Amino acid sequence: MKKITKAVFPVAGMGSRFLPATKASPKEMMAVVEKPLIQYAVEEAVAAGITDMVFITGRNKRSIEDHFDKAYELEAELAMRGKNELLRIVQEVIPKHVNCIYIRQVEALGLGHAVLCAQPVVQDEPFAVLLADDLIDGEIPIMKQMVDVFARHHCSIVGVQDVPRGQTRQYGIVSSTNLEADVERVNGIIEKPMPEVAPSTLAVVGRYILTPRIFHHLAHVKPGAGGEIQLTDGIAALMLEEQLLAYRFNGIRYDCGSKLGYLQAQVAFGLKHPELRDEFAAYLATVKC
Ligand code: G1P
Repeated sequence: MKKITKAVFPVAGMGSRFLPATKASPKEMMAVVEKPLIQYAVEEAVAAGITDMVFITGRNKRSIEDHFDKAYELEAELAMRGKNELLRIVQEVIPKHVNCIYIRQVEALGLGHAVLCAQPVVQDEPFAVLLADDLIDGEIPIMKQMVDVFARHHCSIVGVQDVPRGQTRQYGIVSSTNLEADVERVNGIIEKPMPEVAPSTLAVVGRYILTPRIFHHLAHVKPGAGGEIQLTDGIAALMLEEQLLAYRFNGIRYDCGSKLGYLQAQVAFGLKHPELRDEFAAYLATVKC
């Protein structure tokens, strides 16, 4: 089985939960402390040895391309003013050996459709999918953990965590049997079930490793939950043909698609930030609720 060299970032969503912030700029460019969400996701992919970043974009997403591009005027200005540390930060947004590829998803037909748009680039290789609004902080970056599981099992893997039963309708939910520590063999997966009918509380969060056979299924699945072509439905069809594993990652996930999760991420990353942590912790200690 081939090594994973490509990661797909579906970034065409509207970001409606963060309007008006996302009226004219992408939700993936919202920053946690000083780094945009999409940069955390790309850094996680780089740490997993991935070299080709495939962004599935849509309208109003130009700033993502600009972010990973060379910023000639800004770099010249910083160099001229001797701001070398800032210049380094700007130049190191993405390592030189990494390629960025942009594919435009013309119509927002769903997450499964967005992933299908990556087929001409990914072709017949296994690949990663990262949803940037799931920001996951792990001592070992989460996609690296998943690539290591893939190296042992050579099959599709979804990143999972337990959620409160009342929240199952926000996630793809798996039913599974335990295979080894932190790894489950999936025997069912369903998109956004109501709590009463959810087969478990083990939820898929935005990390996937998929075999290229997924494209065949995504091309054939009918619109599912919300009338959209769902990635979960494609994975459910794939699971009938190939082994599918669920991996309970080691790390803390912040749901930056929700306002509360986004604020929690700001606090957690602020408290870890080398320049800010002491002053920020002191400030938080003074906050009265
Ligand atoms: C998507 C997927 C869902 C998954 C979730 C993780 O849903 O469709 O299966 O559990 O991401 O964040 P969305 O959050 O885009 O509605």
